Amino acid sequence: MPEQTTTADAATNATPDFSQKMVDILNYGALNLAVGIGYRTGLFDVMDAFDDPRSVEAIAGAAGLDARYVTEWLGVMCTGGIVTVETAEDGSPRYRLPRSHGDVLARRAGNGNLGVYAQEIPLLTLCALEKVVDGFRTGEGVPYAAYPRFQAFMTELANAKHRQVLVDQFLPTVDNGRMVDRLAAGLRVCDLGCGEGVALALMAEAFPNSRFTGIDMDPRVIEIAAERSAAAGLDNVVFRVGDVVALCDDGDIAESFDYITAFDAIHDQQDPLGALRTVRRMLAPNGCFSMIDIDSRTPHQANLDHPMGPFLYTVSLMHCMPVGRFAGGAGLGMMWGREQATALLAQAGFESVAVVEMAHDPFNIHYFCRR
Ligand SMILES: C[S@@+](CC[C@H](N)C(=O)[O-])C[C@H]1O[C@@H](n2cnc3c(N)ncnc32)[C@H](O)[C@@H]1O
Repeated sequence: MPEQTTTADAATNATPDFSQKMVDILNYGALNLAVGIGYRTGLFDVMDAFDDPRSVEAIAGAAGLDARYVTEWLGVMCTGGIVTVETAEDGSPRYRLPRSHGDVLARRAGNGNLGVYAQEIPLLTLCALEKVVDGFRTGEGVPYAAYPRFQAFMTELANAKHRQVLVDQFLPTVDNGRMVDRLAAGLRVCDLGCGEGVALALMAEAFPNSRFTGIDMDPRVIEIAAERSAAAGLDNVVFRVGDVVALCDDGDIAESFDYITAFDAIHDQQDPLGALRTVRRMLAPNGCFSMIDIDSRTPHQANLDHPMGPFLYTVSLMHCMPVGRFAGGAGLGMMWGREQATALLAQAGFESVAVVEMAHDPFNIHYFCRR
């Protein structure tokens, strides 16, 4: 028997001219790829620095890139409405990146940087397309090791995301402002799934009286994180390689932290419930846990108006869900949503969980938990 849809569902899903939508999809998909290339090669930063329209040769020369490739790329950019083009007196084209486009595409954009995200789908496709397509048949996951450039990309993202907001905007909201005072006085802090340690280093620099431990299961990122924090002269930071779930059996780690953070690091765990139980075990009796994760709702139907739904579900399909599903893991995926997240935190035994929206970051949500 065919599935019934309500009138409201049908209206929400209706698309008046689907072939036009398909044309838009082809164009925007292609634009995503070329914007990602422009971001990676630094072309947006170069063009953003010019006040007036420039020739291909001037742009390619300033970027140190091949003019023929830059010409083709500019073709994508000007037909895609990202760069303007005008004709000079000698008949040759002059290109300009409008200032307002640089505001979201150039590296100077900081927390408002959307250009950095354009690299994500091409990178994940390069790493894992065949394995993900196989997964549709086999149901198997994909190991983290299949994504060699992913950690460096996450660091680029963390730099864009955290540098302007973590200390000045996020931490002052935690526990109604009390966390900043406690950090200033001195706490034992752990960042779980710390990656290359961007967030941890920013906190350690801002709060010299507190001691910080970064934990990640990937030895390569811990090596990089330790090198960078040593080069920055941070003496209140240690890093440790470890699977957070396995740490559960480490008696020394029990009740050894006052504050634990996990930025974007729970939904792609193979055993997220085990990880959250370990977090709770690691907290001192009055300890707190900040889980910062993508904001979504669990049912697809509740995400139909999400402004970045297709993008975030695709990132999840190409990375978060399959890595979480590897070796028989849970495979929650990035769009696991508030309903599943709060249920899992309760199951892990947290006494209270507050779901806090963040004005500076509408795409993420802060689950603030007391042990
Ligand atoms: C999406 S990245 C986020 C990195 C960083 N927190 C950030 O915001 O840039 C998730 C990180 O969690 C780590 N991770 C995943 N499962 C883990 C586990 N079971 N134990 C420890 N780290 C884990 C991964 O190696 C990866 O570095």
